[in-house]
Amino acid sequence: MSDTASLKLGEKTYDLPVITGTENEKAIDISKLRDSSGYITLDNGYKNTGATKSAITFLDGEKGILKYRGYRIEDLAEKSSFLEVAYLLIYGDLPTQAQLDDFQFQITRHTLVHEDMKKFFDGFPSKSHPMGQLCSLICSLSAFYPESLDTNPSKEDVNLTIIKLLAKMPTVVSWIYKKSLGHPVIYPQNNLEYVTNYLYMTFGQRTEHIEIDPVVVSAMNKLLILHADHEQNCSTSTVRIVGSSESNLYASISAGISALWGPLHGGANQAVIEMLEQIKNDGGDTEKWIAKAKDKNDPFRLMGFGHRVYKNFDPRAKIIKKACDDILAKLGVNDPVLDIAKKLEEVALSDQYFIDRKLYPNVDFYSGIIYRALGFPTEMFTVLFALGRLPGWIAQWKEMRENKEPIGRPRQIYVGHTVREFVDINNRK
Ligand code: SDX
Repeated sequence: MSDTASLKLGEKTYDLPVITGTENEKAIDISKLRDSSGYITLDNGYKNTGATKSAITFLDGEKGILKYRGYRIEDLAEKSSFLEVAYLLIYGDLPTQAQLDDFQFQITRHTLVHEDMKKFFDGFPSKSHPMGQLCSLICSLSAFYPESLDTNPSKEDVNLTIIKLLAKMPTVVSWIYKKSLGHPVIYPQNNLEYVTNYLYMTFGQRTEHIEIDPVVVSAMNKLLILHADHEQNCSTSTVRIVGSSESNLYASISAGISALWGPLHGGANQAVIEMLEQIKNDGGDTEKWIAKAKDKNDPFRLMGFGHRVYKNFDPRAKIIKKACDDILAKLGVNDPVLDIAKKLEEVALSDQYFIDRKLYPNVDFYSGIIYRALGFPTEMFTVLFALGRLPGWIAQWKEMRENKEPIGRPRQIYVGHTVREFVDINNRK
């Protein structure tokens, strides 16, 4: 098959290079199109546009495949730990035991945040949304580590900023939760591994000792692994484009948190639980709500369903659904919204509207049910998504900077007024 594509525009034909990835994905390289033809392409929502070449995560939406650095998500979710997966995404390979121990040790040296940050926490209204707090607090870290603003940092400087951010995110996330309860914050215990330390800072007040239920630790590791990266989704693309202006890592990640907040993206896990509660309180009539989701005149959407890339089951949703039954049983939790979720899925997957549009449950459909069983309030769910996605965002930002990618600056087709003469305000109608 030719490795060029021919584009006929009027009388002229343009040969454009075809790029083939390691998983045999194909792309037409249009980097020179405007210079050679004066044309640009237009693709609202970038549904057909590749922004970069990346070696971090591979998705096959038709087959429901997800791999981090070539490792299947099913294997990583079952056999790995979140910190090990963070290392894999950021540095490219699974760590040896010595590398993982050193990674964990480096992180434990930086888990504290500057005491002055507490003033920021105290400044937020007590019921303000945790995602608004998180994006502010993560960006504010740049104020305490001005060396991170260096636009020409050494590899060691970049790595130190990465370690600091990985180390402080669990502390910030747990403190946001504690402040929402009016509880005193709990300081990190550096003898605990990463996820256990986070859970200790979050729920530590509830247990006399430092050990946290291993079922909870295992479930949290699995959920964080499943959220760790997902190639060029909305928030990751935001991190990359903000970072492409040579903005520092804290500001780039803060922008990604803002993008993730939206209910069409990471905010869906909160919206799913609110939807399931609404259906439960309305009597649990799943057929009625499926009809509403299909009705073009009804703004209601089946949250947690559908995906830009997956036109088959989201492999993460399959893993989380299975984990739901297992974890709720082990914790002795019986949550009626789980039954409603399963009924909704069953009805939707046999409905022609959803079948025609290849709408399946995505990562957000069942995750909130587990978060709730673990004891998290609904408004913390998207913050937990951000905690999981952090290593992926960092890996993508690092790859973009190491590849010296140009500043992101899309073009447009202008459809406004051509030219108008200025009219003095006294003569305007
Ligand atoms: C995440 O990109 C990623 O990788 C994201 C993510 C990650 O890990 O980073 O996987 C995480 O964001 C998962 C998605 C979470 N969002 C939701 O669950 C919100 C509900 N889903 C939708 O809003 C929607 O499915 C999107 C936003 C996820 C995808 O939207 P697209 O690709 O722009 O598709 P679309 O809105 O154009 O929908 C195509 C058709 C439309 O119908 P028609 O115009 O063809 O008649 O499907 C319909 C839509 O109305 N549709 C739905 C629906 N999702 C799409 N109809 C009812 N309920 C839904 N949930």
